[in-house]
Order: sequence, then C-alpha cells, then structure tokens
Amino acid sequence: MSIINEIESRRARRGLSPEPLDERIVAELAYAATLAPSCSNNQPWRIIAIKNETPSAQAEGVRAALTPGNAWAQRATWFFVLCTGAHLDCRLEEGRDYAYFDLGQASMALQLQAQHEGLIAHPMAGFSPSKVRTALSIPKEIVPLVVLAVGKPGPVDALSDKQKTDENSPRNRRPMEEVVYRGSYGVPFSTLP
Ligand SMILES: Cc1cc2nc3c(=O)[nH]c(=O)nc-3n(C[C@H](O)[C@H](O)[C@H](O)COP(=O)(O)O)c2cc1C
Repeated sequence: MSIINEIESRRARRGLSPEPLDERIVAELAYAATLAPSCSNNQPWRIIAIKNETPSAQAEGVRAALTPGNAWAQRATWFFVLCTGAHLDCRLEEGRDYAYFDLGQASMALQLQAQHEGLIAHPMAGFSPSKVRTALSIPKEIVPLVVLAVGKPGPVDALSDKQKTDENSPRNRRPMEEVVYRGSYGVPFSTLP
C-alpha cells in the first residue's frame, strides 16, 4: 500500500516540548485548515489560535478548561479552538448538518499540515465548553467543538504509564471489513482492488 506519509505517520501524541513555535508556521496551520472543502463553500469554521507560550487570560482559561485526563496538554505551546454552528453551513434533510463535518475536514487539514512540519496537533473533546466560551468570548450560537493541543514533540516523562504506552503503540483500528462495504451496506469490502 502507498499511503500519503502525513496520513500514515500522524498520531495523537502527547509528549510536547516547551520550545516555541515559529509564528509563520502557526499561521500556515490555520491557513491549511481554511483550505478544506465545505458545503456550498460556506466555510463554517471559526478558529481561535491561542499562544500558550506566554501568559494571557485566554491561555489560562483554556488550560483551566481541560479535563484532568488532558493535563498533558497544559504544555502545548499553542491551542487552536475549533468552533462552528449549524446555522453557518448547509442544513439538509435527515439531519445532515454539514457544519460539524466541514469543521472536521478543516481540523484534519490542520493536523496533516502540522504533521508535515514535524509538529504534534492533538484533537481533544475533553474540556469544559462553558469555560472555553467564557475565556474566549465565544457567542452563544457558536459551539467550541474541539481544542487542538499543538507543539513540537518532546519528552514523555510527565505522561501517565498508559499514556507513555499509547505514545508509540501500534494503531488501533477496527478491521476494514467491519467499516468499509462493497456495493451495499454491511457487505464487507474484504479485498482491495
Ligand atoms: C473529536 C476527538 C476528540 C478527542 N478527544 C481526546 C481527548 O480529549 N483527549 C485525548 O487524549 N485524546 C483525544 N482524542 C484523540 C483520540 O483518542 C485518538 O485520535 C484516537 O485514539 C486514535 O489514535 P491516533 O489519532 O493516534 O490514530 C480525540 C480525537 C478526536 C478526533
């Protein structure tokens, strides 16, 4: 198989270095996110970049919003808070609210650009949205969906034993035939072309 290197090598790693990031690279990550496709080109992503290298009320607010399980992310040099609202994108029948889908595409573009730059960009749902909303002045109709902890790779000493193991564990994925079908739903796609 020939998988694009950034897709193959990206992992949600947690060992972060305190070394600062070049702001040009940070801007490129954000720009990569905005190149994602979206329904009717609605571009429903709203992205807040927060520098965690230097003290600020915003950085402190994001750190305070992280769950205890995400304490490792306190060391991120930057946070990207990815936000959207269903009203910002196509809302079609059968619950097809594309804002969340399109924000996910933007998130992946950012993660792959980070991988290309040799950085970690780890998505997290483990945070208090109300604390993030207050710290970053996010309006009520906008949902802070994911926080990305971004930084250079660093030591794993501060991680829990499980997190240390996860860091370099093989990828854990459902077998392809369970989730990829051929022709009709549920018919396993068991052979590659
Ligand atoms: C929407 C979303 C939320 C996640 N939330 C967290 C989180 O709060 N804390 C964490 O350590 N990892 C979180 N992750 C990372 C996943 O656990 C990780 O992507 C998954 O285990 C697959 O591992 P891989 O990304 O290394 O392939 C999240 C990932 C996504 C996409």
